[in-house]
Amino acid sequence: MAKFVVLLGPPGVGKGTQAKIISDQTGLKHVSSGDLFRENLKNKTALGELAQSYMTKGDLVPDDVTIAMIKERITRLDCEAGAILDGFPRTPAQADALANMLNELGGAQVNCAPWITAPEAILIERLSGRWTCRANGHVFHETNNPPKSKSVCDFDGSELYQRDDDKSDTVVRRIQVYLGQTAVLADYYRARKTLVEIDGTQSIENVSAALLATLKQ
Ligand code: AP5
Ligand code: MG
Repeated sequence: MAKFVVLLGPPGVGKGTQAKIISDQTGLKHVSSGDLFRENLKNKTALGELAQSYMTKGDLVPDDVTIAMIKERITRLDCEAGAILDGFPRTPAQADALANMLNELGGAQVNCAPWITAPEAILIERLSGRWTCRANGHVFHETNNPPKSKSVCDFDGSELYQRDDDKSDTVVRRIQVYLGQTAVLADYYRARKTLVEIDGTQSIENVSAALLATLKQ
């Protein structure tokens, strides 16, 4: 049976960092809703333009287009064994839609929902020092996790840039949106006995170890 992992947690807590590591370790595909929107933006699609108007403000892209985008992505062959979902779902309506789409995929379900948490001051510090790679969304931090050479991705040699939505006003808005609309998903998955709380203040290595231990259970 396919295995689906939902990574929950506020902006900057390390969802993307961890999704890449555990995808390499488990072979499960990393599917990031934020990366998919940014890819659409890069390719100048109508979806990318629509998403940008919300992303630059730090607001959520409407549920209907987000759900359709994820449905199209996880029904591709490379997600046959499952996926690590990073940034989706972000609302109860998205979580219900995910349950329905997985059920249609031969009765699959969300097996595990790790909820990574850290205090707001740490999130702001991580986002303000983040550098992201243009080609594949690998992330670095200027002090916590620096690339070997400045402005170049260690993994694929592409250019590193600072995301527009990592400006301080937008970061504050993203955290508010998370608290107002997404944090409720901890209760949603707790009620379904799939929530696992992970302390995101630990080192990158220790968070990965905690996640991998959880996924083996
Ligand atoms: P998205 O791209 O998903 O952004 P986000 O949720 O705000 O999360 P981030 O990518 O900012 O943080 P992260 O948790 O991945 O942290 P990272 O690993 O990079 O979404 C962007 C926008 O798209 C949304 O605002 C919304 O508009 C839209 N959107 C996306 N999904 C949507 C949905 N489902 N519905 C509606 N709209 C949607 O790490 C951050 C930094 O910390 C890095 O520098 C990293 O090196 C460092 N770091 C990581 N872990 C550690 C550690 N343990 N110790 C020290 N440093 C660390
Ligand atoms: Mg991310």
